[in-house]
Amino acid sequence: MRFAVGVALLGLVVFSAGASGQAPRPWPSAPNDPTVTPVAGPGWLTRLGVTLSQTSLGRGAGRYGPSDRPATPPSASLGVPADVSLTGADLYRFNCQACHGLEGRGAPPEIKSAVDPVRGVPLDVLREQMKAQHQPPGEAEARARPERIRAAILARVHNGGQRMPSRAHLSAGELDLLFAYLGVLAASPKTAPAKRETVNWARVGQHVVKGTCHICHDAVGARPSDAAMVQGKIPSLQSLLVSQSVAGFVTKARSGAPVQMSGLAMLHRGRMPVFYYLTDPEIASAYVYLATYPPQATAGR
Ligand code: HEC
Ligand code: HEC
Repeated sequence: MRFAVGVALLGLVVFSAGASGQAPRPWPSAPNDPTVTPVAGPGWLTRLGVTLSQTSLGRGAGRYGPSDRPATPPSASLGVPADVSLTGADLYRFNCQACHGLEGRGAPPEIKSAVDPVRGVPLDVLREQMKAQHQPPGEAEARARPERIRAAILARVHNGGQRMPSRAHLSAGELDLLFAYLGVLAASPKTAPAKRETVNWARVGQHVVKGTCHICHDAVGARPSDAAMVQGKIPSLQSLLVSQSVAGFVTKARSGAPVQMSGLAMLHRGRMPVFYYLTDPEIASAYVYLATYPPQATAGR
């Protein structure tokens, strides 16, 4: 992620992550952007009715936090830049990497590769279409194929699948960048040069929250007891804002933090993966997004 120079710095809001961890307000004000909406409803694991121990979903980072020592605190100040210029690689980190991993391979058999279809290994959709045609592809069909593969992959990303959540918050421009990056991961010879798109901080926060955090965390709900959390309950995004300062939030997501059980002199390393590939400003943007667009029980309010 690269900050758009100049303008961004004017809008840079700096939170001090001092010992108290209290973030001074005000946040940057909400941009006038109708494409940013609150995160809503149950997380993806809740929708599927699975617990973290039964699935690889959301665990593509493959790293976990410290078990005994406190994690490294975030850098002395946490900034939320006004505008950020994003590449396809950034969009992949926010929206796909938590499941498909760094290289897009996923965790077969549960999580299929996100890059094999780009290499031309047919998606089920395509396979069905071909079958329906009852004949081997002719020349025109062969020429139309890359476009159909692209359309099928983008439709999959927009709509989701059986165990893959919909990523409907991606714009057409962002889908273009993302598709080009899948080509890079697939080492496709036709790979286009990296392009960028400038978005506001709230969209960055929305990508991180809807693309990653909402896989495991429900939007709303009361905070579970510490004991329930150690048993595997996951606090809602709404409750995180109450329990966590921006600095604590960033540390937990970036480097991990033990779960503190009140009443018991025990620290638990936690079940949440460490999203080492997200930056402090990206996670701080997620926090301010949650504070500015409060999570909702259902979409569309
Ligand atoms: C919450 C986990 C999760 C996230 C996030 C996720 N996927 Fe998936 N993806 C899956 C699973 C699971 C499958 C296997 C098919 C199914 O169950 O839907 C899959 C399948 C796919 C497939 C089809 C593979 C095939 O051969 O049929 C593509 C392409 C894909 N994902 C791309 C992406 C992209 C691009 C992103 C980011 C924009 C993304 N996925 C985000 C879980 C995820
Ligand atoms: C794979 C599932 C998963 C994903 C994805 C996930 N979390 Fe978590 N998170 C958990 C679990 C489980 C806990 C409960 C504590 C533990 O076991 O680590 C938790 C706890 C937390 C806590 C601490 C709660 C507290 O008050 O002690 C914060 C903060 C947090 N998550 C932030 C995030 C952010 C930000 C994201 C997105 C970047 C995110 N989480 C994505 C599973 C996940």
